[in-house]
Order: sequence, then structure tokens, then C-alpha cells
Amino acid sequence: MKTVSLTINGKEVTASKGEKVLWAALDNGIYIPNLCALSDALHPAASCRLCWVEVEGKKQPVTACTETVEQGMVVNTRGPRALRLARTALELLLASNVVDCAHCLASGSCELQKIAAYLSVKLKTKRFRKILRNLPVDVSNPVFIYDPNKCVLCGRCVWVCRERLGTGALGFAHRGFDRRVTTFGDEPIGEARCGGCGECVIACPTGALTFKDKPGS
Ligand code: FES
Repeated sequence: MKTVSLTINGKEVTASKGEKVLWAALDNGIYIPNLCALSDALHPAASCRLCWVEVEGKKQPVTACTETVEQGMVVNTRGPRALRLARTALELLLASNVVDCAHCLASGSCELQKIAAYLSVKLKTKRFRKILRNLPVDVSNPVFIYDPNKCVLCGRCVWVCRERLGTGALGFAHRGFDRRVTTFGDEPIGEARCGGCGECVIACPTGALTFKDKPGS
């Protein structure tokens, strides 16, 4: 496979031709905040707007999950404009998300905690007015719990269920602020065509999907 050489934060790295900057960075130990990207998804959703980077020669920051590596490219993941965009995106996200780490099963493995620490953003940010969705928690599935109030609409669970597994039990419904991940006809997940494999839980970067019992316990 052909490779290209590029520089990320002053470090020379190589990546496969056609690869996205996000994976080139992560593969080389350089962290870029991300919630919605999956390495086997050919067409990134780019919905979380957290993976901003600055690329020499480009007027505006670009999202690393959609930007293809190029020979000689110079990338800065810590540029002030990229960080400002990522911080704003995170704060907007937190403004409509239940932040209750003390009582959340995902605490400690939640990507929101990691990203907030990286970007020096308080999880209980006050910059934007908090508007919560107050949706019912779905405990109908024997394997996992779905709390839509902690969902960041990254779409990882939808993609994994539909594209990787071919099940399609989950999808998006509604628009704007009402947009959410749900089942066909909005039926409880326990009554949907979900086989309970738990791959969606593994893909979830927050506490929106959590196992009732930890796998292997
Ligand atoms: S990881 Fe790039 S926009 Fe979400």
C-alpha cells in the first residue's frame, strides 16, 4: 500500500494514501477529540464537530475525520482557531446533555470526560443556556439500557447496527432539537428487531447505552 509523509504537531508521520488525518494522528499517538468517527466507516458523518485541526495553507480549520492526508501536509491539532471551534462545539453539546457523572455507569470511560479535560472545558459549562430533553429511559432490552438524555447523536450505534451488523434496529428520527436515536416506530428497544449483541453499547462514546451487566461478569 502506498504511503504519504506528513507532519502533525511537528512530528513526522507516515499514513496510508487516502487515509483521513484523524486516523493518521491517532495511529501515531496524537490525540484529536472525536465522538462520531469510526475507522471502518467509509463516509464519515462528521456530526460532532470536535475534531478540528489547522492545516498549513488552508484559510480555515478543517475536520480531521474528513480531511485526507497529503504528501508534505503540515497539521496542527492545537491551533487556537481549531481549539476554539472544538470548545464551542463541546459546550453546545453539553448544554443539551445530562451531565451526572457521579451516577453514570460510563463515568471513567466516557469520551465526554476525556474531551472536556483535553479542551479544558468544564463539564458543567455555563456559557450556554442548559436545555434538556427529559426523555424517558428505555430499560426494555434485556442486555442494555438506553438513556437518550445522554446521547450526543454521534450516530456510531446507528452505523454499527445497520452497516457493520446489517440489523438496522436503530435509526434517527425527528429534526433539530428533537432529533434522537430510536427504533422504527419509536417502539421500546426490547420489542424492536434487536438481537442484543451489545455492539451498539461498545460503540457508544458516552453513557447513553450501558450494559445492564458488565460483559463477562
Ligand atoms: S469526529 Fe470529526 S466531526 Fe466528529
